[in-house]
Amino acid sequence: MATATLKPKTRLAPKVRQTQLLIDGKWCDAKSGKTFATYHPATEEKIADVAEGDAADIDRAAKAARKAFESGEWPKMDARDRGRLLNRLADLVEQNFDELAALETLDNGKPIRDARAADLPLVIDCLRYYAGWADKITGDTIPIRGDYFCYTRREPLGVAGQIIPWNFPLLMAAWKWSPALAAGCTLVMKPAEQTPLSCLKLGELAIEAGFPKGVINIVPGYGPTAGAALVKHPDVDKIAFTGEYRTAQIIMADAAQTLKRLTFELGGKSPNVIFADADLDAAVAGTEFGLFFNQGQCCCAGSRVFVEEKIHDAFVEKLVKRAKTRKLGDPFDPETSQGPQIDVDQFDKIMSYIDKGKEAGAKCVTGGKRWGKKGFFIEPTVFDNVTDDMPIATDEIFGPVMGILPFKKVDEVIDRANKTFYGLAAAVWTRDVSKAHKLAASIRAGTVWINCYDVFDAAAPFGGFKMSGIGRELGAAALANYTELKTVTMNLA
Ligand code: NAI
Ligand code: MG
Repeated sequence: MATATLKPKTRLAPKVRQTQLLIDGKWCDAKSGKTFATYHPATEEKIADVAEGDAADIDRAAKAARKAFESGEWPKMDARDRGRLLNRLADLVEQNFDELAALETLDNGKPIRDARAADLPLVIDCLRYYAGWADKITGDTIPIRGDYFCYTRREPLGVAGQIIPWNFPLLMAAWKWSPALAAGCTLVMKPAEQTPLSCLKLGELAIEAGFPKGVINIVPGYGPTAGAALVKHPDVDKIAFTGEYRTAQIIMADAAQTLKRLTFELGGKSPNVIFADADLDAAVAGTEFGLFFNQGQCCCAGSRVFVEEKIHDAFVEKLVKRAKTRKLGDPFDPETSQGPQIDVDQFDKIMSYIDKGKEAGAKCVTGGKRWGKKGFFIEPTVFDNVTDDMPIATDEIFGPVMGILPFKKVDEVIDRANKTFYGLAAAVWTRDVSKAHKLAASIRAGTVWINCYDVFDAAAPFGGFKMSGIGRELGAAALANYTELKTVTMNLA
């Protein structure tokens, strides 16, 4: 496996042009003058120092967003023109495709192949999809009792505070900005401290596209300082957050004082169920992709792989063979299919789970070690004979570590798949239509894929049951996160 060595392809990396805060249409340093470093996870080398925003900068940004929401061009703009701005931003993302993809690979370490084939196309789709919604957000007329004319309006919610993680930096920005801007909100975004660069570039493009000042503000910084200040700020009407459920618990408590609207997209421990009647090769390929894609750093990663006993041995043999063909190395090499984990914290967390898996008696059938001497690479790792109560079966690992759990019966696997406080996603592989739909209906998760994995589309809602989230992103559903419903009743008598 993993024969490539680190080649100096990082010279293909783009120049980093933007490292400041974007507040009220202007680029500026943090009030404190502080900066923090961002690193390339494949080489552990510093890429750039970025302005480190904190409460004082969040205050400036929130006030700018408030002002832009209440006065100036934005609230007067026709909905259709908001849509045109979003489309113009999508055009600029297309024109800057190479640079954005390379920035993402530089800052996050994901293979350039994935940045180009997945992240960027999904970003563009998302912007265009919501561009189309801007002038289609309507209310109802309601036949109430009496001589009245009653109707509803869907009005923009106000200032959105948006806090995103590092696993899909640009895509998470697009998921958050697009419905907010289509609905007429203004926003303050805090990107993840590990990966601020692509979001800052997107900010540059937004200004070029013509978004009025103050509509989009970006304040890189740390969670407990900048993030918490955003959550508590009285000028901010809602928080949209993607990340760990424990952080969401802190955010929920911090948001209580100002009773902010909250939407959360949190983690998962998604079951991926393979029945004996499935197309075995397709299931193996989908299972590999469903867990190892993005170095396993996906909220919906299929980390609990339930395999029907009858095909267990054949499945594991094929899966291990595939896992071994994954090519680790320089993420700028177009052949590379697996890059490094994001940082040393995640690396250590994942390695500790590999130890826990071994201690608990699961059988490590491939991988299990660090790869290379530099960078946060971990071998694609598969544990067999995992049982439901092992830490590797209960906890989100967020790395290239798969657990295989054999099962015998349909009802048994439904029961075991649901034995988790998470409920983000699931998949089922079978040629039996009834079985597929029975599982789709029985698994308590926001998304169920049948004979596929990680199929995302801007039009299809995504989010979690249980502790995997609150609310839905994408699709028409996400517009509700950024609108308030107003009822207007007029006396006709
Ligand atoms: P995190 O939830 O702490 O960070 C996500 C974002 O929240 C970052 O922008 C961070 O600065 C911000 N944040 C942190 N503390 C905050 C606070 N008190 N108030 C406001 N904002 C705050 O996630 P982290 O530490 O990067 O990763 C830890 C684990 O979380 C991972 O190992 C993984 O299991 C999970 N995770 C899940 C993600 C998902 O897509 N559902 C994404 C990233 C991490
Ligand atoms: Mg954290």
